Amino acid sequence: MTDIGAPLEEKTPDASGRGPVVELQDVGKSYGNVEALAGVDLVVRQGEVTCVLGDNGAGKSTLIKIMAGLHEHTSGEMVVNGEPTRFKSPREALDAGIATVYQDLALAPLMSVWRNFFLGKEIRGPLGLMKIAEMKKITGAELSKMGIQIPDLDRPVGALSGGQKQCVAIARAIYFGAKVIILDEPTAALGVKQSGVVLKYIIKARDAGLGVVFITHNPHHAHLVGSHFVVLKLGGVALDRERSQITLDELTAQMAGGEELEQLSHELEQLESPPRD
Ligand SMILES: Nc1ncnc2c1ncn2[C@@H]1O[C@H](COP(=O)(O)OP(=O)(O)O)[C@@H](O)[C@H]1O
Ligand SMILES: [Mg+2]
Repeated sequence: MTDIGAPLEEKTPDASGRGPVVELQDVGKSYGNVEALAGVDLVVRQGEVTCVLGDNGAGKSTLIKIMAGLHEHTSGEMVVNGEPTRFKSPREALDAGIATVYQDLALAPLMSVWRNFFLGKEIRGPLGLMKIAEMKKITGAELSKMGIQIPDLDRPVGALSGGQKQCVAIARAIYFGAKVIILDEPTAALGVKQSGVVLKYIIKARDAGLGVVFITHNPHHAHLVGSHFVVLKLGGVALDRERSQITLDELTAQMAGGEELEQLSHELEQLESPPRD
């Protein structure tokens, strides 16, 4: 990949040696009267997996949409590569190196793997003809570099497993220069084995130096790959811990809503009918 638009200056990494690429500071988002997010701080660093966990309605998708350029935040600041930023469109986010893979993937199911890989970025010769052999070769090389073997790149993407589809979308984002990749619940619809494929891929993306934002409500999946964990609850940050500061049990208890479950258990006990004789 050639980098034509070379950066004007090197950003200084922080003490950990890994610079934050995206930083949300006290970010809020209201949809009319509905406050979907309030006071959210989040740091995404290169070479790390930042996991964002939370129940349905916690604000995870809203958070992603702000970073992906689909929605603008209504309060606070988003800092991208050291600059306060407001994306006006997904295109702007992409140009800043932030790629998002949504659950309902933006892949065309009837088109082949290599066509999807290069969709909108086709390599063409002087007469505008597509350089098919070259694109196939690159697609195969990029996928196998990341440990994915797809024997026939002419197969329609729709014939791939859910995990493989996610991987093609991620590989594509990396190849076209993403610095941050946001994955919205990539394992939610997958079985154990396919989830494993995607989790391995997340590690590969991390080790390739990307900042990965992994949205999930599965604490087991998060704990397997996460460097850093943020739990959202009712639009706010309920927990923010580095990997060394939290165990899987603690993360699971957070997600299961330990206190809420205890309260529910009391309520259920009271509903139980008195023992008959
Ligand atoms: N476009 C919208 N208009 C109004 N309310 C919205 C919109 N999108 C999300 N919300 C509300 O914001 C809150 C957070 O939603 P969302 O970000 O989708 O949560 P999650 O992805 O964690 O399930 C919910 O109460 C939801 O109903
Ligand atoms: Mg969501």
